[in-house]
Amino acid sequence: VPDRPSAVALLGGGVIGGGWAARFLLNGVDVRLYDPKRDAVRAVAGVLENARRAYERLTLAPLPPEGTLTACASVAEAVRGVELVQESAPEDVALKQELLAAADGAAPPEAVLCSSTSGLRPTELQAALARPERLLVGHPFNPVYLLPLVEVCGGERTSAEALERAEAAYRAVGMHVLRVRNEIDGFVADRLLEALWREALWLVRDDVATAAEVDDAIRFGAGLRFAFMGTFLTYRIAGGEAGMRHFLRQFGPALEWPWTKLTDVPELDRELVEKLVAQSDEQAAGRTIAELERERDDALVGILQALRAAGAGAGETLLRWERALLERAPRTDGRRSVPASWIDYNGHVHESRYLEAFADATDALLGSLGLDPAVGSYFTVETHLSHLLPLHAGDVYEVETQVLAADEKRLHLFHVLLRDGRPEPAATAEQMLLHVDSASGRVAAVDGEVRARVERLRDEHAARPRPEGAGRVGLR
Ligand SMILES: NC(=O)c1ccc[n+]([C@@H]2O[C@H](COP(=O)([O-])OP(=O)(O)OC[C@H]3O[C@@H](n4cnc5c(N)ncnc54)[C@H](O)[C@@H]3O)[C@@H](O)[C@H]2O)c1
Repeated sequence: VPDRPSAVALLGGGVIGGGWAARFLLNGVDVRLYDPKRDAVRAVAGVLENARRAYERLTLAPLPPEGTLTACASVAEAVRGVELVQESAPEDVALKQELLAAADGAAPPEAVLCSSTSGLRPTELQAALARPERLLVGHPFNPVYLLPLVEVCGGERTSAEALERAEAAYRAVGMHVLRVRNEIDGFVADRLLEALWREALWLVRDDVATAAEVDDAIRFGAGLRFAFMGTFLTYRIAGGEAGMRHFLRQFGPALEWPWTKLTDVPELDRELVEKLVAQSDEQAAGRTIAELERERDDALVGILQALRAAGAGAGETLLRWERALLERAPRTDGRRSVPASWIDYNGHVHESRYLEAFADATDALLGSLGLDPAVGSYFTVETHLSHLLPLHAGDVYEVETQVLAADEKRLHLFHVLLRDGRPEPAATAEQMLLHVDSASGRVAAVDGEVRARVERLRDEHAARPRPEGAGRVGLR
């Protein structure tokens, strides 16, 4: 994951601009906001509140200190000193062109200009810019702070460098970049969504289904699959062992009937509008937008976590982001923090990871003995683990190792895992290791300098108190 930008400018702070603000701020990026609406900052603060709540549930990885939100009175003021400008003003070509031209005139030369447009072509947006090569579309999805997808599309004059810089910035704040290969109205995702939407409108208009029933058709079925397997992989499975070829042969002819009315548009006359509004009201059953947003966020967090456990789709993006957060978290000598990837579906550190932590400590000790692998090395033959306190992602821990006993062949170790700020052990491991001769592959005495180092350690550690819990198993 690349380094995140230090500051970005947001032009427009509505549904999408607010979501961008939340994603950037929670990733430690300073945000300079320009939106002529009077209560723009208050609206963004509301989105940020939702996003904080969602991130608290989403991840145990240590988030960086939040960036600062600055309200700016003009485009020129907003773009001062930023690395990226994200325009999320209403979907109006002339308005966007004007805003982007103002940003182009005032932003540092190396800043990239990105538009959140759902369907306008970047070539059209860059037409009047002095530096058209730095303009591109970065099309996100609502809520921007939780959905990782951003479609990136360059126009005829966009440079490869600008695309790469914008993509790096998006990845740094936990997003999945989908580069659109050819400039096209509506890009990839909105074309697919529009097809669904068009058909949904027909179904309601013709009284085949209500708004709620159309939604049920998605959420109880295909919608569950969509989060980890899109249309193509799903249909491959539907084709059985013979895969896609068979699927196309079997269901191809149906496309010519056709089932759908995709090329027609239902007229949004008064009757249809009233019907859609009434059914939508009924479906919402009195829930406010704020309540619906929270329901949505809670479900999304749950899905993202399930996908992380499955290593699928957006769960992989989440894991990569969490690993980067952990890597960047401040660390102190000899101490480590528990990576998010160690966390089970139930929020606890998976038990195999305790062995990993202790095995690393054993490796560190063996590394200090100066063993020559061509001559011989120690093999662990027995480990006794005790789990004493829970560990969470991001907890800082260190392992202290004591040599309990050593003779010519055996090395008897006791590890204590201490969680930052707690004097009592979080876990312990008692291990017996045997020295194996590399040539014969058999247990054999250790000699020379290594033997001297082992004995020196043993004698030094003999002065320490014997750890509580040592000698529980047949290690003596
Ligand atoms: N809503 C979505 O699901 C969605 C998804 C992806 C992309 N988009 C795109 O994002 C953009 C914004 O959509 P939205 O849904 O956030 O709309 P919105 O109406 O919620 O927000 C637009 C904001 O722009 C502000 N604005 C108006 N004139 C401005 C100006 N001259 N300079 C700066 N700000 C100005 C408004 O005050 C408002 O806060 C559109 O291009 C839209 O196509 C929307």
